[in-house]
Amino acid sequence: MPAITTPPSGHCKTVCVTGAGGFIASWLVKLLLEKGYIVKGTVRNPEDPKNDHLRALEGAGKSLVLCKADLLDYDSLRSAVDGCEGVFHTASPLTDDPNKMLEPAINGTRNVMDAAADAGVRRVVFTSSVGAIYMNPKRCPDVVVDETCWSDLDYCKETGNWYCYGKTVAERVAWEVARERGLELVVMNPAVVLGPLLQPTVNASTIHILKYLTGSAKTYTNAVQAYAHVKDVAAAHLAVYESERASGRYLCAEGMLHRGDVVQALAELFPQYPVPTKCSDEVNPRKTGYKFTNQRLRDLGIQFTPVKQCLYDTVKSLQEKGVLPVMP
Ligand SMILES: NC(=O)c1ccc[n+]([C@@H]2O[C@H](COP(=O)([O-])OP(=O)(O)OC[C@H]3O[C@@H](n4cnc5c(N)ncnc54)[C@H](OP(=O)(O)O)[C@@H]3O)[C@@H](O)[C@H]2O)c1
Repeated sequence: MPAITTPPSGHCKTVCVTGAGGFIASWLVKLLLEKGYIVKGTVRNPEDPKNDHLRALEGAGKSLVLCKADLLDYDSLRSAVDGCEGVFHTASPLTDDPNKMLEPAINGTRNVMDAAADAGVRRVVFTSSVGAIYMNPKRCPDVVVDETCWSDLDYCKETGNWYCYGKTVAERVAWEVARERGLELVVMNPAVVLGPLLQPTVNASTIHILKYLTGSAKTYTNAVQAYAHVKDVAAAHLAVYESERASGRYLCAEGMLHRGDVVQALAELFPQYPVPTKCSDEVNPRKTGYKFTNQRLRDLGIQFTPVKQCLYDTVKSLQEKGVLPVMP
């Protein structure tokens, strides 16, 4: 069924989701439609068949409007957020190429925040990242990482982590504009997000797992990451939007795994794939993760799916989409 072109006027529950066709945003749009919201979803090209999955969502015909908008085009964003009570700003590049990352992430966030303030939006939920929280080598290993922690910009720059740099600066800009313009802001800081895909294309955090199943990664890196399930991340976005007591930042992560644990879990669950067994770093000691807390989201009623289930759901989805061959 085609998406409607204009939302019913005067609806008090109209919200905008930027980058609606993305991995996380698609689940968020689905959830919002299920909850009875009218959704204005921004995409760069509404005609692109890669957005057909949005038009196919239950309720889309009645309650989803796809708006053409680019993060670097204020006017397109201003018209997308017009009439909205809330804005979920999820759109961002996900790359360590500074030329592609920084401008849309940072200036794009400023544009979204300004557009929301100009349109009289009640609350913005900005999808930041755990990458804006944990990248700090000076932090004592015993510290429990929580929402008070911020990534060190110099360290991100020195190590070429332009994605974490961009997300950190973008989040700072969001807070700055919110303060200046008196706009209500809540920030979600998800870890690496896994789980089933609604969209037809394979996003960056899914490639993080896919490469271990196709044979393209012959080794695994000596690195540690925290993970979250995409359905939990969508639920967390909605919870911080709807809860009157929600404020500040929310670290959204279930568990921490070394890549060695990731490949071991994948090999146990799906022994048919050529999952690497060797670490690319045979010199340094195995990296250890940081301690973190997701208590703030649990206090809002979010229940986290175990990481092993995240891995399982990701692979099953890739098989169902025909991205990964189902081998005996
Ligand atoms: N996935 C993760 O592991 C993870 C973890 C923590 C935080 N996050 C954050 O969560 C958000 C969504 O991530 P995701 O994994 O769902 O990413 P995704 O699937 O790659 O989706 C990103 C979306 O951003 C849009 N976008 C990129 N540049 C744009 C621009 N200049 N103007 C308008 N739209 C633009 C893309 O639109 P097009 O389709 O037109 O390209 C796409 O729909 C991002 O802010 C990301 O930083 C993700």
